[in-house]
Amino acid sequence: MKKKFSVARGTNDILPEEVSRWQTLEKKAHEIFRIYGYKEIRTPIFEETALFARSLGPTSDVVQKQMLTLAKSGQGDEEDKNIFSLRPEGTASIVRSYIENSVDKKESLTKLYYIGAMFRGERPQKGRLRQFHQIGVEAIGPGSSNSYLDAEVITLAVRLLSEAGIKTFKLKINSLGAPGDKEIFAGILREKLKSHLNHLCEDCKDRFERNIFRILDCKNKECEKVVEHLDLGQSHLSQESQKYFKEVQQALKVLKIPFEVSPLLVRGLDYYTHTVFEISGEGLGSQDALGAGGRYNQLVHELGGDEKGTIGAVGFALGMERILMATGERTTNNERRTTNLDVFIVSLDAVGEKKAYEAAFKLLNDLRAGDVAADMSYAQGSMKSQMRLADKTGSRYCLIIGEDELKEGAYTLKDMRSGDQKKVKLENIIKTIKG
Ligand code: HAM
Repeated sequence: MKKKFSVARGTNDILPEEVSRWQTLEKKAHEIFRIYGYKEIRTPIFEETALFARSLGPTSDVVQKQMLTLAKSGQGDEEDKNIFSLRPEGTASIVRSYIENSVDKKESLTKLYYIGAMFRGERPQKGRLRQFHQIGVEAIGPGSSNSYLDAEVITLAVRLLSEAGIKTFKLKINSLGAPGDKEIFAGILREKLKSHLNHLCEDCKDRFERNIFRILDCKNKECEKVVEHLDLGQSHLSQESQKYFKEVQQALKVLKIPFEVSPLLVRGLDYYTHTVFEISGEGLGSQDALGAGGRYNQLVHELGGDEKGTIGAVGFALGMERILMATGERTTNNERRTTNLDVFIVSLDAVGEKKAYEAAFKLLNDLRAGDVAADMSYAQGSMKSQMRLADKTGSRYCLIIGEDELKEGAYTLKDMRSGDQKKVKLENIIKTIKG
């Protein structure tokens, strides 16, 4: 028996009956981004592994455990073999492209968006995939360091989720402060956690050494208990960072965006500074983050694109699978209709003949050339089987071509909703169907 192949673990086929929901979401995103002044960018789905390591942090979980690195087959330089990885997220690639194209020389603020597949070698579970899709934005430039832009980006994420049909979600925000503040915070945490190391899970013991912030959002019950008693304030933030964070909150209040300040929100990627946020949904189980983002003022500098360190940035990414999961299985009539045909042609010949079939084939081509969505059956089946097929496609009309119709030069057009039928002259068919 031949081996049957299955879709790889943690990846999905998006079948035609589901694609309309994806298209609706993408269309909404394109519309909203236009309204907010963001332009689309498309970067490759793989980049140098080092770009991700440098951007997300060599000690982050994504880089340490989840990178899907490409192995090139065949002969070749060893050096050349494992240097590329599938992108685990979009931010690093976009900053790479921003620098490579000297975009800062052209404008002081660049607002970009992207929609596409991302890849992480995670242990798959509900809502956690190895290939998933994100809708994201990045606002980058010397003119981006403004608390009101943080508020715009957060508002944009909220707007996208609401328009996607998500009614209830929770927005949590926090500030990590400037890089100096982050270091002070790490020091405070290390001091406070040192005596509790025995109570932490194995992962967190490891995080204590390599990524101490992540202990704060560990889901292990024992770790949560330890963290609860840490009494973390925002004293590690400088006056300036506190002022910035207050302004972000004030701007959100002005726009009436409900939020909760969560000192435990730290995020898993190293590039964040100042504002971070996460939006969680209901009924999604443990993987309930619909999207997340924040400010990353050091990344352009870290990647060599900004000697003076004045190019800041802020952005977010939403998980498309999670949005579609949260909005359920609802395919609207409108979405269904976009997949339907205008007309399905049924042809009837005497046994061994192909006259009607050929006329149908020619007409099919003319209809399509006239922008009418049309199809026919390539199997010369019975009238009954062709009509059944016409029905299944959800076609608005059915056009019947038989011997009589060929002689008259007028074909029978049946309205599949009302069941009414009439003869229509060949030259009037497109006009009649288009109404
Ligand atoms: P992230 O929190 O790693 O941030 O991912 C953003 C969103 O992508 C998550 O909230 C989730 O909805 C979705 N997501 C992530 N991993 C998976 C997965 N394995 N399966 C399904 N969905 C997933 C980023 O990626 C940052 N680049 C966001 C950002 C942009 N920050 C600034 N700019």
